Amino acid sequence: MKLIFSIAIFIWLVSLSACYYDKEELLYGNNNSGPCTDSTGIVSYSQKIIPVFQQFCYSCHNSSFPSGNITMGTYTADKAIGLNGKLFGSINHTTGFSPMPKGMAKLNNCHIATIKKWIDQNMPNN
Ligand code: HEC
Repeated sequence: MKLIFSIAIFIWLVSLSACYYDKEELLYGNNNSGPCTDSTGIVSYSQKIIPVFQQFCYSCHNSSFPSGNITMGTYTADKAIGLNGKLFGSINHTTGFSPMPKGMAKLNNCHIATIKKWIDQNMPNN
């Protein structure tokens, strides 16, 4: 029992340090304007995701102007492109997807990692 507990603590410590190094890597992206503070914990849709979408996406993707037939700007719409893989494919510039935001520099690593994390957390509406 004690051994299992020690192993669990060990794995936990290793994963913590892995996060730490990941985070350092994310500190400066291509067009990053500051440190990435979003790589730990539960990502907040309202505080961390919407502001990025507002700045880089909603102008071309909203209910009255859905470029490429992609609507964004509501939780349901934003979640839908998260679920079908198009959100991450497009911002990550994955082959087979149109690179987004269209005509602009790729989002910085911090934004991409934060959006990825929100998707991996099953896109909480928080
Ligand atoms: C300047 C306008 C513009 C901006 C800004 C923009 N998009 Fe797009 N988006 C388009 C157009 C136009 C298309 C249709 C495909 C094409 O023309 O490349 C599209 C297509 C898409 C698609 C479908 C891609 C595919 O391969 O099926 C997704 C998903 C998408 N955009 C998400 C986003 C996200 C997320 C952002 C913000 C990070 C964003 N877009 C910013 C214009 C824009």
